[in-house]
Amino acid sequence: TSNAMWGGRFAAGPDAIMEAINASIGYDQRMARQDIEGSRAHAAMLAAQGIVTDSDAEAIREGLLTVLSEIEGGTFEFSTALEDIHMNVEARLKEVIGEPAGRLHTGRSRNDQVATDFKLWVRDQIDAAITGIDALIRALLTQAEDGADWVMPGFTHLQTAQPVTWGHHMMAYVEMFARDLSRFKDARARMNECPLGAAALAGTGFPIDRHMTAEALGFDRPAANSLDAVSDRDFALEFLAASSICAMHLSRMAEELVIWSSAQFRFVTLSDRFSTGSSIMPQKKNPDAAELIRAKIGRIFGAHTALLIVMKGLPLAYSKDMQEDKEQVFDAADNLMLALAAMEGMVKDMSANRPSLEAAAASGFSTATDLADWLVRELNMPFRDAHHVTGALVALAEGKGCDLPDLSLDEMQSVNTSITEDVFGVLGVHNSVASRTSYGGTAPSQVRSQIARWKEILA
Ligand code: ARG
Repeated sequence: TSNAMWGGRFAAGPDAIMEAINASIGYDQRMARQDIEGSRAHAAMLAAQGIVTDSDAEAIREGLLTVLSEIEGGTFEFSTALEDIHMNVEARLKEVIGEPAGRLHTGRSRNDQVATDFKLWVRDQIDAAITGIDALIRALLTQAEDGADWVMPGFTHLQTAQPVTWGHHMMAYVEMFARDLSRFKDARARMNECPLGAAALAGTGFPIDRHMTAEALGFDRPAANSLDAVSDRDFALEFLAASSICAMHLSRMAEELVIWSSAQFRFVTLSDRFSTGSSIMPQKKNPDAAELIRAKIGRIFGAHTALLIVMKGLPLAYSKDMQEDKEQVFDAADNLMLALAAMEGMVKDMSANRPSLEAAAASGFSTATDLADWLVRELNMPFRDAHHVTGALVALAEGKGCDLPDLSLDEMQSVNTSITEDVFGVLGVHNSVASRTSYGGTAPSQVRSQIARWKEILA
């Protein structure tokens, strides 16, 4: 038998393979709530405009709530023959309320319907991402506050560079995730135009009120071009782009946690709650959550690339290709939210090992730049000469197997006779970080003022 929704011109039903390739109900049932919300707004508007009667609209709106409770209660039977969530809901509505159900689709197409549902779904995920990132930033701020003046090595090339503070390192991630926050907010503002009422592609002759449905669904305005409204998936792509960049940040942080929690570094101890053991090696405590965050990110990048490729050659307006938008976005959203929550949990629970951080901060000649700066400041040496003299002192210390502060004054003077006892004042890591007071620098005073600034922004 032919399809109840569109089978008027068909003598035969679809082949099983046709049905299998066509159906999206297996995944788009996740948009049930959005679909019903959109249909309820549409029905109310149809009545307000005198396109359907108030009593039909009331029956539709009530019936849709019944269908929603069946879906949420797990008693709804989804049918592959009915392709997607839109037709599954409408078919069930017909069973529940009878004839008025057939009036719901007046002045509307599945093309504007699916664009609206999907936008509502993505908008919810943007809000969830914003909440998740906000929570992560707060956890980072707490870490930064606790360790605003704890010293640790700063790295370039993963080689010891200069001492920094733990608070400064945490605040670097605050900056990164705050940019993610603003990207999601930007995307939300840009996408918030309602496709509903664009109908199949050309608009409709019914006297619909698109401003009314747009407002009812929390959009700022109706989308202004019906062709664009049904063929636009920029909102999904922007969500995936913002997710990808955020995921990249999560992955970099995850990588640092993996390194920092190793026996060789011991910079942090991850909580038992966010670690796992080994089935053979009894001593093991593995940073699996961090590793999985690092890995899951690939799916998010993949989703972004996949949807760009789906969209790239499509002529206007709707093509069925666009049905392939959802699974990618669903999977990316699920994994982003999970990664954000896992990172927040790890950051909240982790404890920085202050003695290890401090010992590491002092090793690897980390204050060599401070020494060179001292030569410039106190001996009026040109920086390039100071760099050279310091290099010679590093080589001397390296040869002796000690750090810079362990050299005697005699040894220092063997490289440059003008060096005085005062030099030892700048070789300590605490003095080093305290001196970095330029705006945005690692000095605890700067870190504290950045923490205060972010707290005010987030309040
Ligand atoms: N399941 C479809 C999708 O996800 C709904 C839109 C179908 N429109 C159409 N003209 N066949 O894209």
